[in-house]
Amino acid sequence: MNLATIKRPSWRRLASLTIASCGALASGDAQLPERFTNLQVLPPGIASDSLLSVMGGFTRALGVPCRHCHVARNGGRPAADEFAADGVEAKRVARAMLRMVDAINREHLPATGRLPVNMAQVTCATCHRGIRRPVALEDELWAAYVRSGLDSTVALYRALRTQHYGTGAYDFSELPLPTLADRLATQPVGQADALVLMRLNLEYHPDSWFTYQQLGQLQASMGDTAAAIVSVERGLALNPQRPFLRELLTRLLKR
Ligand code: HEC
Ligand code: HEC
Repeated sequence: MNLATIKRPSWRRLASLTIASCGALASGDAQLPERFTNLQVLPPGIASDSLLSVMGGFTRALGVPCRHCHVARNGGRPAADEFAADGVEAKRVARAMLRMVDAINREHLPATGRLPVNMAQVTCATCHRGIRRPVALEDELWAAYVRSGLDSTVALYRALRTQHYGTGAYDFSELPLPTLADRLATQPVGQADALVLMRLNLEYHPDSWFTYQQLGQLQASMGDTAAAIVSVERGLALNPQRPFLRELLTRLLKR
C-alpha cells in the first residue's frame, strides 16, 4: 500500500464493506441506470460496481432499503431511471453525511499526526451500527419517557433488546439504564420511576455491583436507609474491592 492510494478518498471504505460481500446483497436485485447523472459528492466517473458497493453499504449501515433514500413510485424497488432523482429528504441528508465522513477521514484524522497506515477510518457504520438514527439507548428511552411515560419506556427497552441484542445497534450493558435513572432522579417526581429502571437493570444484570451502588444511593436520597444498606451490601459482596461502597455503607450505618 502506498501513500497515494491511502490519500485517495476511499469510497468503498465509507460504507465499511468488503468487496466480496457487496455484490451478494445489492447487485442481483437493483436495476441500475447505464450512466449516473446526478452524483454531487461521489466521483462522477465511479464504476458501477463501486457505486453499488457504496450503496449496499448504506443499506446495511442504516438498516434500510434503497427506497429509504430513493424515489420509488411503485412503492417497491426504485426503477433504474429513478435513482438520479432527489425527491427523498434522506438522500439530501445522506449527501451531507458523505461530506462529513470524507472530511473526517481526509482532514480531521490526518490532523492527529498519526501515520495513515495505522489510522482507523470512520464509516457510516461507525455511528449508525445498523440503525437509521444512531441515538444512544438512554436517549432513545428518555424520549419515550418524556413522550409516553414509564410503562412505555420499560416496554421499549424490552422490545429493543429483543430486536437488537447482539447486533451492536444499542448498548445493552449495565450502563444505560442507570444513566437514564440518574437523569430521572434529579427531579423528585422521577425518583420512584428511577427505582423501577434500576430493578429492570438488575433483571438483566443481576451481578452488576454498579447498579446496586447507584440503587443504594438513590434509596438513600429517598430516605429509605434500610433498603439502601441492603443494596450497598449486595454491591460490596459483588465487588469487595470498591472503597466507595465501603464508605457509603459506613455512612449509612451511622444514620
Ligand atoms: C442512505 C441513503 C441511500 C441509500 C439507502 C441508497 N442510496 Fe443510492 N444514493 C444516495 C445518495 C446520497 C446518492 C447521490 C450521491 C452523490 O450525490 O454523489 C445516491 C446515488 C445513487 C445512484 C446514482 C444515481 C445517479 O444517476 O446519479 C444509484 C444508481 C444509486 N444511488 C443506487 C442505489 C441502490 C441500488 C441502493 C440500494 C442497494 C441505494 N442506492 C441505496 C443515497 C442512498
Ligand atoms: C459521526 C456519526 C455519523 C456518521 C459517521 C454518519 N452518520 Fe448519518 N446520522 C448521524 C446522526 C446523529 C443522525 C441523526 C440526525 C437526526 O435525525 O437527529 C444521522 C442521520 C442520518 C440519516 C437520516 C436518517 C433518517 O431517515 O432519519 C441518513 C440518511 C444518514 N444519517 C446517512 C448516513 C450515511 C450514508 C453515512 C455514511 C456516509 C452516515 N450517515 C454517517 C450520525 C452519523
